[in-house]
Amino acid sequence: MTLNVLSVASEAVPLIKTGGLADVAGALPAALAPHGVAMTTMLPGYPAVIARAGKLRVVHRWDSLLGEPARLLAGAIGANKLLVLDAPAYFTRDGGPYGDPAGKDWPDNGRRFAAFGRAAADVASGAVKGQRFDLVHAHDWQAAMALAYLRYAPFDPAARVPGVMTIHNMAFQGWFEAALFDRLELPRGAWSIEGVESYGGVGFLKAGLQLAQMVTTVSPSYAAEIRTPEGGMGLDGLIVSRGDRSRGVVNGIDIAEWNPATDPALAARFTARTLGKRAANKRALEAEFGLDPDANDSGGPLFIVITRLTWQKGMDVLPEVLDHLVGNGARLALLGSGDASLEAALRSGAARHPGRIGIRVGYDEALSHRMQAGGDAILVPSRFEPCGLTQLYGLRYGCVPVVSRTGGLADTVIDANPAALAAGVATGVQFSGVNYHGLAAAIGRTVALYRQPEQWRRIQRNGMASDVSWSRSGGEYAAIYRQLVAEAA
Ligand code: ADP
Ligand code: GLC
Repeated sequence: MTLNVLSVASEAVPLIKTGGLADVAGALPAALAPHGVAMTTMLPGYPAVIARAGKLRVVHRWDSLLGEPARLLAGAIGANKLLVLDAPAYFTRDGGPYGDPAGKDWPDNGRRFAAFGRAAADVASGAVKGQRFDLVHAHDWQAAMALAYLRYAPFDPAARVPGVMTIHNMAFQGWFEAALFDRLELPRGAWSIEGVESYGGVGFLKAGLQLAQMVTTVSPSYAAEIRTPEGGMGLDGLIVSRGDRSRGVVNGIDIAEWNPATDPALAARFTARTLGKRAANKRALEAEFGLDPDANDSGGPLFIVITRLTWQKGMDVLPEVLDHLVGNGARLALLGSGDASLEAALRSGAARHPGRIGIRVGYDEALSHRMQAGGDAILVPSRFEPCGLTQLYGLRYGCVPVVSRTGGLADTVIDANPAALAAGVATGVQFSGVNYHGLAAAIGRTVALYRQPEQWRRIQRNGMASDVSWSRSGGEYAAIYRQLVAEAA
């Protein structure tokens, strides 16, 4: 029996992306299709989404969706069904999905994403003719209120469906002052510790975690970390109370989109058997970042970093180790956007090492592909990382991941310790301590491995052979869906 699942997310490639959530939400429909799941993705109707979505038709109207008129538009992304919530008062604005052009959160984000959740719950509980779903899969706090409306105010209680709540990052919880509650059009009973109340306000993610039939997060290690005060960020008690209703399912990547053998963004395409062709990509990257060419690869590795410039990603520590990195004969090409003070620190570090360190500020998808194809090693020094995708792209492209031992980074990279090297299974370098000493030691280890070309090639090939696809995790999600639908029957 085919299951119809409504995946509710605030971003999804190829329509709108600020981070890994978009890659995952965009990849899930194809990941689930082989497992008998027909997934429809529901997105907010930001201008970019409506502009890029192609043909859309109106399938439903709300005179008042938490006080504003709205329409539901239906279309497709490739072979997969798409629903778009067109509510101009909430979503038609310049800037990003969550903030103004200067990056400041929209002051009405609570209302915006409550309305999104309200609409998703309506769709999932029979409000729209011709749309029928067996289950709702909500991603992050922006979609979480769908589960609250399904529980407390479904369109048709008889059509109420089970819900999965996936945490992509516990650091973003969608917490709002208590006054918001009166505008949510939820019954009084929802204002309780079993409902949407959280630390005296309204907790969107908290509500989703409380009310979902299954909570998942994006790696097994992160699933364990959020059960602790440090990783749970105030919601660890709730996660622990959910017992075996909380699991980790590691992310995959879209291996068609990220394929070095066919990637149109690259100067030279390659496979694990033609690693020598990576050199042309490296030369192109050096030129693009103004780095001294190293035609014989006689020095150290060319490190790359592709990231949001934030504390989570360890980007405050990176400037401290630049001298050490260059002193070891290595070079660095960094692509990032985010915090202006981190950007300034990186720029001043780069200025001390012309030709050795190149920084590009901005967001550039094609460049990120070229970097994975031309860099030797990708550095991911995150303080915490629910899953992380850039290390998976690195594995796929023979760009050896050098990662802090946390969350999904710990789960996806096999450290080149003596046992792993002897067994021939290492795929990268792990380190602990996101501080000067931790990073400096990891850089030193990576440089030493790089200077043993046979060893290095083995690590590259192992990475390229590791399964970073959705095949296993797609099956795990499908099994969860089937279990919940069976329980609800
Ligand atoms: P997060 O979602 O926490 O930022 P992930 O590693 O899961 O971390 O996903 C980040 C995604 O965004 C990856 O697809 C990565 O390639 C991409 N990315 C991050 N920063 C940039 C940038 N400046 N330019 C292009 N792509 C970027
Ligand atoms: C979040 C996390 C990241 C994860 C991504 C997709 O942005 O920070 O670790 O890979 O979601 O699940």
